[in-house]
Amino acid sequence: MFERNQSLEEVIVKLDNDRKLFAPVQIGPITLGHRVVMAPLTRSRSEQPGDIPGRLMLEYYTQRASEGGLIVSEGTSISITGRGWFGAPGLYSDEQVAGWKNITSAVHAKGGRMFSQLWHTGRSSHVSMTNGATPVAPSVIPEYWQNSTPSVSTPSGWVKPSPHRALDISEIPGIVEDYRKAAERAKAAGFDGVELHAANGYLPDEFLQDGSNKRTDAYGGSVENRSRFLLEVVEAMVSVWGGNRVAARIGPGGTWNSMSDSNPAVLFDYVAERLNRFGLAYLHIIEPRIKGNVLIAEGQEPIATAQLRKIFKEKIIAAGGFEPDTAEAIVEKGDADLVAFGRCFLANPDLPKRIKLGLPLNDYDRKTFYTFDFHGYTDYPFYDQQRDGLLSDPFCPQLHDSAFYFDSCLHAGLARASAISSPRSESKNKALVLEAFDTLFNKRDYVAAERFWSPNYIQHSAHIAPGREGLFNLIKSIPPTLKYEPGMIVAEGDLVMIHGRFSGFGQPTAWIAADILRIADGVLTEHWDVIQDEASRESSKSDLPMFGEKFGG
Ligand SMILES: Cc1cc2nc3c(=O)[nH]c(=O)nc-3n(C[C@H](O)[C@H](O)[C@H](O)COP(=O)(O)O)c2cc1C
Repeated sequence: MFERNQSLEEVIVKLDNDRKLFAPVQIGPITLGHRVVMAPLTRSRSEQPGDIPGRLMLEYYTQRASEGGLIVSEGTSISITGRGWFGAPGLYSDEQVAGWKNITSAVHAKGGRMFSQLWHTGRSSHVSMTNGATPVAPSVIPEYWQNSTPSVSTPSGWVKPSPHRALDISEIPGIVEDYRKAAERAKAAGFDGVELHAANGYLPDEFLQDGSNKRTDAYGGSVENRSRFLLEVVEAMVSVWGGNRVAARIGPGGTWNSMSDSNPAVLFDYVAERLNRFGLAYLHIIEPRIKGNVLIAEGQEPIATAQLRKIFKEKIIAAGGFEPDTAEAIVEKGDADLVAFGRCFLANPDLPKRIKLGLPLNDYDRKTFYTFDFHGYTDYPFYDQQRDGLLSDPFCPQLHDSAFYFDSCLHAGLARASAISSPRSESKNKALVLEAFDTLFNKRDYVAAERFWSPNYIQHSAHIAPGREGLFNLIKSIPPTLKYEPGMIVAEGDLVMIHGRFSGFGQPTAWIAADILRIADGVLTEHWDVIQDEASRESSKSDLPMFGEKFGG
């Protein structure tokens, strides 16, 4: 139960103690303050020519850095022949290192950490991206370029991939060496570690899955052989960084980019088991309910993470289709230690804060995922920028904090105002709230009150324990002389806002509360509130009582 007059910070600390997403976590030698990770997100805004991270990228990552938070960089080309996405940054030149250095410094200045995601696109490329070189793959699969929809971003727009060729076994050490060099450059650029992109149908994934790997040498055939390339690359990265600052990202059962495997369960169990020997910082697992950047199996539980948790011994980042509540649930359950957010993070520069405070999220705009300027990139608003200004009252220091919540209510309210309903149902909703409040606060009839409050009631209040039980317990803890007088009440769509006074509970001043309630199917389902001491005429600096002379009739 939260105490009255606790500061917002105290309340949040208390709430956070109960929320695993905001408990510190160790990855390798790094202690993170929370577990809301920014997923790797290709955004094609590097400076051209040269794939150089410039000012725009600096602004974007700085916006998204948070105290104790981890960012995984967008896929970053390890070599010119590994390029496959126009505008993606690289780590194969000194200019690129200098550009990244500015970014990692800015992220560190905000107390954040950043891993670089190393990327070779393999067959998913086009000769206009590789300086004319034929894209490489474990094996030649002509259907890949013949049947695929245009999927490679090039200087002249989206095109079909070029025909690829199979890597000769003698070329493989050279590619592993490219990864090693990029890992070295990542170190020079000030990153905190490196993550191998081994998902989504790029080179390491092409070796892993047997739909794309038909080799008959030491890199094809058995699960052991198909995993060899990935393990050699990880080993090269570990030779630069040590195991505990290296990570791998895999997509068990992933089908993006025409990928398939005859037995993904056996394959990825083996990979996770073999990775144990490196003592990695983490394993990053994309759930198969996500195909690249699209949710294809709504409602599917995080199955890959649950399975690999049984095998992999170090930390796990789960990714793919997580919402704040399902992220909390998987960390709480113990199947993952951290959760990466992709689309939500690109649209919400302050995502950890929004999740922490239960604030509404901006929607993402798919049309600007891979465009080239600041639109849909650095212009997604921070929550603070969306606020319409702060309330303040010198007699009510809590008001400033409360305003934060109050304001979030209004935004949530606006977002929901789209739920159009008739004036008739709005007046019914108002009557329902008045009756519900009277039953609970004045009559103290808890059994009757249950009829008005949904069992799944969500309470966004900072000062009340969660759920219907939290609210009922609070009222039970207050003397029976409590009296609630409603003042103003308004309704719009499925929301009702009521302004009222609590008195008679043994405090020198009354409390004034503004509550916003959402009604669904005739019961109260969601609730936001602000509460503060009432300023009387005597105690008011402006010589005006807080609510005029006639509040509450
Ligand atoms: C615009 C965009 C770019 C992406 N780029 C990458 C990338 O560079 N590397 C990678 O491993 N995954 C990439 N992904 C996949 C995301 O990291 C993530 O796995 C996916 O969006 C699912 O997570 P979500 O449901 O939280 O968005 C990208 C996704 C999106 C939406």
